Amino acid sequence: MRNASDQFDSLLHEHRTFPPPAGFSAAAHVASDDVYEEADGDWQAWWEGWARELDWFEPWHTVHEWDAPHARWFVGGKLNVSHNCLDRHLDGPRRDRTALIWEGEDGERRTFTYAELHAEVCRFANGLKALGVGKGDRVAIYLPMIPEAAVAMLACTRIGAPHSVVFGGFSPESLADRIDDAEARLLITADGGYRRGSVVPLKKNADAAVARTDSIEHVVVVARGGIEEASGATMVEGRDVWYHDLVADASTDCPAEPMDAEDVLFILYTSGTTGKPKGVVHTTGGYLTHVYATSKLVFDLKDDDVYWCTADVGWITGHSYIVYGPMANGVTQVMYEGAPDHPDRGRFWRICEEYGVTVFYTAPTAIRAFMRWGEAWPAKSDLSSLRLLGTVGEPINPEAWMWYHEVIGAERCPIVDTWWQTETGGIMITPLPGVTTTTPGTAVRPFPGVAATILNEAGEEVDAGFLAVTRPWPGMLRTIWGDDERFRQTYWSKWDGIYFPGDGAKRENGNLWILGRVDDVLNVAGHRIGTAEVESALVDDQRVAESAVVGRKDDIKGEVVCAFVTTKEGVESGDELAAELKQHVVDKIGAIARPAAVIFTADLPKTRSGKIMRRLLKDIAEGRAIGDTTTLADPAVVQALEEKYAGSEG
Ligand code: WTA
Repeated sequence: MRNASDQFDSLLHEHRTFPPPAGFSAAAHVASDDVYEEADGDWQAWWEGWARELDWFEPWHTVHEWDAPHARWFVGGKLNVSHNCLDRHLDGPRRDRTALIWEGEDGERRTFTYAELHAEVCRFANGLKALGVGKGDRVAIYLPMIPEAAVAMLACTRIGAPHSVVFGGFSPESLADRIDDAEARLLITADGGYRRGSVVPLKKNADAAVARTDSIEHVVVVARGGIEEASGATMVEGRDVWYHDLVADASTDCPAEPMDAEDVLFILYTSGTTGKPKGVVHTTGGYLTHVYATSKLVFDLKDDDVYWCTADVGWITGHSYIVYGPMANGVTQVMYEGAPDHPDRGRFWRICEEYGVTVFYTAPTAIRAFMRWGEAWPAKSDLSSLRLLGTVGEPINPEAWMWYHEVIGAERCPIVDTWWQTETGGIMITPLPGVTTTTPGTAVRPFPGVAATILNEAGEEVDAGFLAVTRPWPGMLRTIWGDDERFRQTYWSKWDGIYFPGDGAKRENGNLWILGRVDDVLNVAGHRIGTAEVESALVDDQRVAESAVVGRKDDIKGEVVCAFVTTKEGVESGDELAAELKQHVVDKIGAIARPAAVIFTADLPKTRSGKIMRRLLKDIAEGRAIGDTTTLADPAVVQALEEKYAGSEG
């Protein structure tokens, strides 16, 4: 609970303004806000200018076609993403520049120059071809944060095989669902990975997943140094191939497949309001243009930068701002495998010092954890190389913003609070570090060329309501894999031709504040979790009759999963069952969805038409006075729940 003085601080911070430091602006890619007018004047020409900075095998004939809700960008153009992230850099000084500095959680270190990364990607791309993977075939990737994750993604794009990366924390069942939905032919995994010192048995999970699916023909397994035994990995004859065997004799020559600008680049599954995750489809030319331009301007990337994004490649942030955007810019970056508090809470700051990190991009949930751990940890390391800080994934509370600014940035580094989504492909609302005067907690304004505003249900502009993107942009999702109707319904049915992201927003002093999801999607530590997914995992247990899942505010994670459960008759509810149900959710979905609390109730509050009133459950979970109950079928249900919840923490 926040006390009165915290709230007072927060009010103060919300009204402080931070112009870009003069020295920063002088050297920045963008130092004047004329760029906004220029981009708005002819937004298609603006994006076209960015596309021209990439290498194309064949030029486009039309910049943009819009048949709402279907967009095409750079129509007729041909290019290859791997070529743009690697080959393009090989003729100049970037050839021998370090592309990747990787640090394992166990302290192991590997580095790749752009030339070395290119050779590795070509070898693996040839290996994939040898296993029969070709243009258009889907490849599932289930890897820890090791260099081979980036290599695998780039190898897929090189041969035109759309990848579907599945976060290594997902359960075998979640992996199997995603493999099935995309009908992936090949799976790339590792024997295991490290997390807080213990081994995550990825190959075992992968085997359990493949046993539930029909489409996988081969599994390529990366040997993550030194953990073969601990991982318990075994190889299936004829199906499984070690990565190192596959690339051992493979040629480093693998021509990049010319892809149509609108060919599918990847599918990435994300949670929505139903039990089934959505396969968000991104295509080639527009996506790369968007992430290239935003990486360059938002992170102000220069040739001497050392960039570090702490996301996992299993999420969109890892796709757009570890692999594709930064590599298309030819930057040097750090990639770290493990947890921020292993072996102690100073790990991130030692990495910053050791490699001279200049641009650092992380999530508010991490910043709140650092705050709680205290200033002594960052104080042990020299952070003077940092020049720019970023945040992504959820709203940042002004206190955390101020701490980031003062303790990590030493009041010297601009902060870019970047709003975007899996669906948008790249950053949409953000400060530009050399131009924008920021205020703690606001993402400020749309990136040049992007048009976003706040609308009410009727589509009228308001100061507080739904965030809306009113103009197509190159990185936009093209559809939901195999379900175009869901694509239309989810994003394009609220207003005509306007994109609905599912977030609430307000405008204050001209700034856009993103207020969080307005649908049944939770944001737990920056991860999207659909309440319906958790509910179906719960009712999957034979003893559960019904469940309703809501988010409860949390000081570190932003929100945690709170599950209300009605058991079947004769089932004994109690701590033991609560623990088993939590574990069941972990088994079904993955540890990120583990409920923080399971509350048993004889009934769930429902309207007379039988709809569960989640708003009331949220009030109960957060210990607030209950709102209007007049539409309830049976008001006594709520009273009983309130009494019960007051005495339990699940
Ligand atoms: C939330 C992550 C406020 C938002 C890139 C969005 C944010 C969802 C911000 C997308 C931010 C992301 N301020 N909220 N700067 N960035 N969000 O698909 O609710 O994992 O809809 O993409 O995260 O999450 P996703």
